[in-house]
Amino acid sequence: MTLISASLLSCKDNLEEVTKEFNELDIDLIHLDIMDGEFVPYHSFSYDEIKKIVNNTNKPFDVHLMVKNPEKYIYDYAMLNTKFITIHYEAMNDIKVLEKIRSYGVRCGISIKPDTDVEEIYDILPLLDLVLIMSVEPGKGGQEFMPMALEKIKKLDEKIKSLGLNVLISVDGGINNNSATKCRNSGVDMLVIGSALVNSNDRVAFLEKCKQ
Ligand code: DX5
Ligand code: ZN
Repeated sequence: MTLISASLLSCKDNLEEVTKEFNELDIDLIHLDIMDGEFVPYHSFSYDEIKKIVNNTNKPFDVHLMVKNPEKYIYDYAMLNTKFITIHYEAMNDIKVLEKIRSYGVRCGISIKPDTDVEEIYDILPLLDLVLIMSVEPGKGGQEFMPMALEKIKKLDEKIKSLGLNVLISVDGGINNNSATKCRNSGVDMLVIGSALVNSNDRVAFLEKCKQ
């Protein structure tokens, strides 16, 4: 079964309302995008906005740290009801950050931007619980899915299987019914979905199609 991680990045104006609506849907996780204005040119949520999300859901969090110094953020986000914390390979200063995530009982993930080759992370796969393939340039929602992500998912799926590892593959950016099918056929385990879910006029049917 494909896991669904729902992103609230494009609902900043009615965050409380959409968080409550998402809480009633058949989704597995809330994908919490955190941006520092340095690793990506934007900021995502303020402290008050994060409070609005945290106080209105009992779904576990899938934290995506698009930040230059991930070490600084791990403790705070591990203290929430958090299942995964994912940092960017391009921002990883010290591999020990992965152990730090796990030391709080949280699963650790590595994300790669569209320009980073998937082969670059093969060596560290045994240290990971999840790999997040970016199918858009990180920074904002509502962008178009980049098909090059499919090749990365396929390669990664083969590699993980050949090593006998238990690492989930997630994909983030431009996921809709069409790209979801392609990603699933390529071996993805988790779909991060933002604007297509928010804008759908039948979210239940939309999610069912994404999982089929
Ligand atoms: C983009 C973020 C995504 C974003 C996805 O940098 O990491 O999680 O919210 O949004 P959509 O699904 O609209 O591309
Ligand atoms: Zn994200």
